[in-house]
Amino acid sequence: MNEITIKRPDDWHLHLRDGDILTAVLPFTAELYGRAIIMPNLKPPVTTVKVAAAYRQRILDCLPPDHGFEPLMTLYLTDNTEPSEIRLGKDEGIIRAVKLYPAGATTNSEFGVTSIKKTYRVLEIMQELDVPLSVHGEIHDPGVDIFEREAVFIDRELNPLRKNFPELGIILEHVSSKTGVDYVRSVDRYLGATITPHHMLINRSSIFAGGLNPHMYCLPVAKRESDRIAICEAAVSGDPRFFFGSDSAPHRVTDKEKTGGAAGIFNSPTALPYIAQKFEAEGALENLEAFMSLNGARFYGLPPNSDRISLKKVDAPVSVPEFIEVGPDRVNVFQTIEPLFWDVV
Ligand code: DOR
Ligand code: ZN
Repeated sequence: MNEITIKRPDDWHLHLRDGDILTAVLPFTAELYGRAIIMPNLKPPVTTVKVAAAYRQRILDCLPPDHGFEPLMTLYLTDNTEPSEIRLGKDEGIIRAVKLYPAGATTNSEFGVTSIKKTYRVLEIMQELDVPLSVHGEIHDPGVDIFEREAVFIDRELNPLRKNFPELGIILEHVSSKTGVDYVRSVDRYLGATITPHHMLINRSSIFAGGLNPHMYCLPVAKRESDRIAICEAAVSGDPRFFFGSDSAPHRVTDKEKTGGAAGIFNSPTALPYIAQKFEAEGALENLEAFMSLNGARFYGLPPNSDRISLKKVDAPVSVPEFIEVGPDRVNVFQTIEPLFWDVV
């Protein structure tokens, strides 16, 4: 198969930022995807419905009139989030998910949750109202090895949480380990996981190949080759619990290439063709539509998009720009050392 047509995909985990970065990166998503779950880790974070509605409007204002792209907004959970805010967000149709960042675990997570117990009143109302919890599944404990933080989070936090809220929809975002994949497979329909293109394509050696490469650094950090293989198997399997979330996370090159450089990989220009290429390599193109366009919508209780897009395999490698310009700055575009032979028609 050298060409494939699928229902228009959605991106179930996306960082668009704000201001000049938002303006520069949004077209790459809006031209291909029907909808995207927009992450709330702005500075300051999106902690109220009012702030989420204003952010949504800024996103819409960056699109040409009558453009069909729909940003699906999230709230940033804190120790002090009020249950009434969830009810308001649901009633007004603004809030599609609530994001749990363990405080300190990743970029702009310092206002995140210090103890999940403190959020139980909020989780109760989310379970009642059917508002899913989107989880950054890494323990923030400097004593835990960075490659083990997902597994330890599952054991210490996620598993007890699921037991206490058995009907709360939970998304283990950017699953990054075989342990995480196996855990999602072992439980029921209330737990799903997003998978990023970079966790499907790189492993921890990629961060050091040819010298330290900050553009391969994200959180959760890429793990062993055996983890990458498990993630790929889950993605291509067609299992409805696994769906695409790019975690495209643009940072200026100057913020990446420094001591204390930021975690995050900007992949929205290349995610879809790389994933098509990977599905082809695994002999699983027939499951591409489930992963990109059906499973996530089903998990979120939404219909799939009605229109379609096509991808084709080309003879010469597609040229991928090294970066995009953002004012006087640049944002690096994700690419691997493998040439890319798939393109959107
Ligand atoms: O790599 C990451 N970048 N992981 C996250 O959890 C946050 C994201 C960002 O916002 O830059
Ligand atoms: Zn993210």
